Amino acid sequence: MTSPSLSTEQRIQITEANCPRNSMAEDVEKGLTNNPKVLYPKYLYDDRGSELFTEICALPEYYQTRTERRILKACSMSIAENYRPTTLVEYGAGAAKKTHQLLDAMREVGTLRNYVPIDVSSAFLQESAMRLAERYPRLTIHGLTGDFLEQIDLPYPDEPRLIAFLGSTIGNLTDDEADIFLHQITSQMNTGDLFLLGTDLVKDVAVLEAAYNDSQGVTEKFNKNILGVINRELNADFTPHTFHHHAFYNPVERQIEIHLVSKEKQSFRIEAIDLTVEFEKGESVRTEISCKYTKRRIMKLLRQ
Ligand code: SAH
Ligand code: AVI
Repeated sequence: MTSPSLSTEQRIQITEANCPRNSMAEDVEKGLTNNPKVLYPKYLYDDRGSELFTEICALPEYYQTRTERRILKACSMSIAENYRPTTLVEYGAGAAKKTHQLLDAMREVGTLRNYVPIDVSSAFLQESAMRLAERYPRLTIHGLTGDFLEQIDLPYPDEPRLIAFLGSTIGNLTDDEADIFLHQITSQMNTGDLFLLGTDLVKDVAVLEAAYNDSQGVTEKFNKNILGVINRELNADFTPHTFHHHAFYNPVERQIEIHLVSKEKQSFRIEAIDLTVEFEKGESVRTEISCKYTKRRIMKLLRQ
């Protein structure tokens, strides 16, 4: 067991999980010269985007966070008692607030040793690691920053690990991406490791659409923040107020789609990649999908 005399800082180690194959410049160029225009949702999560997502989690319309917290509260003890994991690995950990339910249960049964949060948002990861190290004085935290769609070698292969992917973040991946992602995990799982997946289910369209069109406009700010990220990182001149936030349920694909729709015909410069991007009035760029699952679709993904 880790010594309680180690300081908070001594129990935290943050390392790079991988070096993304494509840079943001390459991804943005590919996405904005595509027809229709698309952007990868991982670019929604700079510090500001991560803060806005934390605000989304507390919105009355965003039922997912409180529902999942309730489910975790109900089942964490039985997971900890029956499987006795020592190590929690969490993909897309973010603010790691719901994680408390699992860590508390592991601590209560006396097995808790290591926590491995994985996230692309490195400053945010650092902050939540500090918070958790203070809350759990015997816990070792090995944070990994990087893109979970690329290979990540998971630490502690000799420990029984609980590998969690919560918040229905899997829904932000296409089925092909989800398939690659799940293969990466299963190829590293040893006997005794567990995989815990949180997914949102198909439900009433009005409930789904309200969750992505909240009355306080936080989701709109979160969506538009991606343009601020591109402006800052790639020296571009996008004007977020000249776009509408548009989120709707696509019943054929069974997914919420989140777009930014141009209010007028306009063009923008992205200096870092020497690109001028033209938008027609009403033309959109899709910034995110959020798949809504049936049990059958989840089982198909997991069987593959
Ligand atoms: N698990 C938390 C946060 C979900 S938000 C919850 O359930 O509330 C999604 C998280 O995944 C964000 O913190 C974001 O930074 C991270 N993320 C999104 N795409 C990623 C990628 N490709 N690689 C690594 N992290 C990613
Ligand atoms: C992180 N992810 C599961 C959220 C979702 O519901 O798809 C992201 C989000 N986008 C807008 N609101 C929430």
